[in-house]
Amino acid sequence: MHSDIDRIIISQTQLAHRVSEMAAEITRRYHEQPHPLVLVPILNGAIVFLADLMRQLPIRMRVEVVSVTSYPGRSTESRGAEIRSWLDAGADLRNRSVLIVDDILDTGNTLRLVQREMAARNVESIATAVLLRKTSKDHQGVQADFVGFDIEDEFVVGYGLDYDGQYRNLPHIAVLKPSAC
Ligand code: IMP
Ligand code: MG
Repeated sequence: MHSDIDRIIISQTQLAHRVSEMAAEITRRYHEQPHPLVLVPILNGAIVFLADLMRQLPIRMRVEVVSVTSYPGRSTESRGAEIRSWLDAGADLRNRSVLIVDDILDTGNTLRLVQREMAARNVESIATAVLLRKTSKDHQGVQADFVGFDIEDEFVVGYGLDYDGQYRNLPHIAVLKPSAC
């Protein structure tokens, strides 16, 4: 275990199991769609979750990534969200079903922004999948349709989630030692 880690709250095995279950739920919902599903992962946090999830979706799909900043630098408090870039701003999403994929639903700022952007692009439907949701937080009315795990309100890293850009490569979800943040 990494020396900055205080404790693991979701193991690699638990993650693999739950991501497979989520893939099955998502497949059930979208397998009869006439058009390929468009996955919209929110970078950078969603990369690991996306990679594991999409390989278990036996349906026609495309990926259009969006990059959003919400925890600038060394902060562990959300300060609002800002879209950094749409990598393919010209992608035609009309009449497509869109599944936004993010690592965690915390204050809801990030997802509200991306959901609103998607709604402005005349898509057929918008749903959201998050690996984690902080239960004690007020998500400001933002909902996720597919949720991996509900967790307490503490700052976590690993499986794509970072602190100051680090720890995304940890294979589990963990809490850092106070000395590390
Ligand atoms: P929100 O905009 O406050 O809902 O936060 C969502 C974004 O903040 C996520 O996409 C994460 O990148 C980041 N975030 C929120 N909570 C955590 C955490 O506990 N660890 C690492 N990143 C987090
Ligand atoms: Mg993020």
